[in-house]
Order: sequence, then structure tokens, then C-alpha cells
Amino acid sequence: MSKILITGGAGYIGSMLCTKLLEEGHTVTSVDLLKYDKGSLNHLYHNKNFKLICDDIRKVNLMKKLIRKHEIIIPLAALVGAPLCEKFKKDAISTNLGSIKTLCKYATKKNRVIYLTTNSGYGIGEKNKYCDENSPLKPISLYGKTKCDGEDLVRSKIKNHVCFRLATVFGHSYRMRSDLLVNNFVYTAIKKKKLILFEPHFRRNFIHVRDVVSAIIFTMKNFNVMKNDVFNLGLSTANISKIMLAKKIKKQYKNLQIKIITNRKDPDKRDYFVSNKKIEKKGFKAKISLDRGIAELIQIFTNDKNKVINNY
Ligand SMILES: NC(=O)c1ccc[n+]([C@@H]2O[C@H](COP(=O)([O-])OP(=O)(O)OC[C@H]3O[C@@H](n4cnc5c(N)ncnc54)[C@H](O)[C@@H]3O)[C@@H](O)[C@H]2O)c1
Repeated sequence: MSKILITGGAGYIGSMLCTKLLEEGHTVTSVDLLKYDKGSLNHLYHNKNFKLICDDIRKVNLMKKLIRKHEIIIPLAALVGAPLCEKFKKDAISTNLGSIKTLCKYATKKNRVIYLTTNSGYGIGEKNKYCDENSPLKPISLYGKTKCDGEDLVRSKIKNHVCFRLATVFGHSYRMRSDLLVNNFVYTAIKKKKLILFEPHFRRNFIHVRDVVSAIIFTMKNFNVMKNDVFNLGLSTANISKIMLAKKIKKQYKNLQIKIITNRKDPDKRDYFVSNKKIEKKGFKAKISLDRGIAELIQIFTNDKNKVINNY
């Protein structure tokens, strides 16, 4: 069993990951400021193998000590999303990139680092492009840039690492987000009964949050065959356009009205197919379908009246 340090453990991916790693018997320490959902780790405090340090990952001395005490490090804490990073530019750079510089400075060959970035820099301005890990990443937002620069640092400075370029994540988490595309479409469908789409044929790739967690656990178990490489991580059957996604939701939520407007551009210029073959060849394949995720989200947004606290 491993000693694992997860920054941003209270977040959308982190709270699901901490839960699963503890179930598997690992010891987990998380550093998180609990910026959004204060209760997303409440179900874990009973576990003697879990510790939350409610503090800032930008504190170099704190992180230096923790990096030395832990074998596996999964740095998830970040200001996530383009609008949030635009609003808090300095914090975006110090959090998303500064913390990775600290990690690169103090990690030794004893550490194994698993780093997640976004694949949103692929396919910018190249309609219907098929992207693999050799396609250039050309992020347009500050968020995308800080994450891509973080990946470059990890790949060049950390002796033992695996990097993932993630598709847009969907599904339920202890820290819910309704700003991610699938979650947002289902949320809007339930709350407004109407979806307004612009640039409806833009394609994206998606993955369920539980599949992200499974991929990380797969990587920990197969580190030697994965190490020092970068992998796209998405569900291969979910390379679909916004209109196809809206129609999938309508199949399960008949009340939905879909309206297409032509006078608005999508600021997120992604329009691409993403190949996940490289990780699939290593033996990991994302499995949870969009239809299952949509069914799950319909239940949540219909029945849970708690307000979702988004990042912006
Ligand atoms: N969700 C996605 O679709 C997606 C896609 C690609 C990559 N990622 C990456 O995965 C990681 C996790 O994303 P998420 O969706 O779980 O985001 P999230 O916003 O839900 O979680 C981020 C967590 O970091 C914490 N945090 C922020 N600044 C901090 C600081 N200075 N000190 C301590 N804690 C701090 C927040 O409190 C929050 O709990 C991020 O690095 C993100 O870039 C996510």
C-alpha cells in the first residue's frame, strides 16, 4: 500500500479519487483550501488513513516537507477553467504553475508523479481534426497555457512521471460541478427544459469521473510500463458533437426543447476527434457510457435541491 499526496483532494476529481484510494487501502494526505464545497470530504474523516491539510499549496515549506514524506504525488489543485483564470490571472499562474515548479524542485527519484492536464489545446482552428499525443497543443486560454506549461515542466524535470491529457469530465462527484459541458447540458435541461446551442457541430471528447479515477489506479499498478510518457484520456465512443450530445439527453429527457442559434460563436474553439488508442494499447479503456452518465445526472439534478457551487 502506498503513501499518496493529493493536492486539490476536495475537488471534483480529487474527492472521488481520495475516496477510491482509501477504499483500496492506501494512505492519503490531501492539501486543499476547500475553496468551493466545504463538505466534499466529510465522509472520509472517520478513516485513520486519511488526513486533510486545509492550507495553500503555494506555501513552499509546507509542500517541500510533504513531497519528501510521500511516495506518489497527484497534483490536482488548480484554478480550473478559462473564465476563473481570466478573472484571477496572478493566482492562476502562482497556483497552476508555481506549485508545479515547487514540485519539480523538491521531487526526487523516489517520487512518482501523476499529472492531469486538459486536452483543450488540441484542434484549435482545425475543423474535425483527429488528434493524438503527437498533435501540437496550442492552448488559447490562460488556464490552458498554465496547464500545458505544467505538463512541460513535469515531463522535463520529474524523473518518474505519467501525464494525462483529459477529455471533458462528466458525472457525479462529492464536489459537484455543473459548468462542465455534459453536466451543464443536463443541468440546464432539467432546470430550464430548453437548451440553446451555438456552433452545434463542434466536436468534443468526454470521460466519466469514475473512469478518470480508474485510469489513475491502473497507472499506479502499471507504473513501470506507463512511466515517463503522456496519454490522452477519454472515452473513445464519446467523440461527439454538441448537437449529438443534446439529442442523447433528449432521448432520456423527453421534455427538452433544443434550439440552435447562428449568431453566436463558441469562445472555446475546440472541434476535434481525440484518439485514446495509446492508453488503450497499454490495457486501460474508459467504459462508462455517456448514456449512463446522463441517466445519473438526470437523477441528481432532478432530486438534489442543494445548490451546486461552481468555480465562477
Ligand atoms: N474536470 C475536468 O474536466 C478536467 C479536465 C482536464 C484537467 N483537469 C485537471 O484536473 C485537476 C482537478 O480538476 P477538478 O475538476 O477536480 O477541479 P476543482 O476546481 O473541482 O478542484 C480544484 C481543487 O483545488 C483546490 N485549490 C485551488 N487552489 C488551491 C490552493 N492554492 N491551495 C490548495 N487548494 C487549492 C480547490 O479548493 C478545489 O478543491 C485540475 O488540475 C484540472 O486542471 C480537470
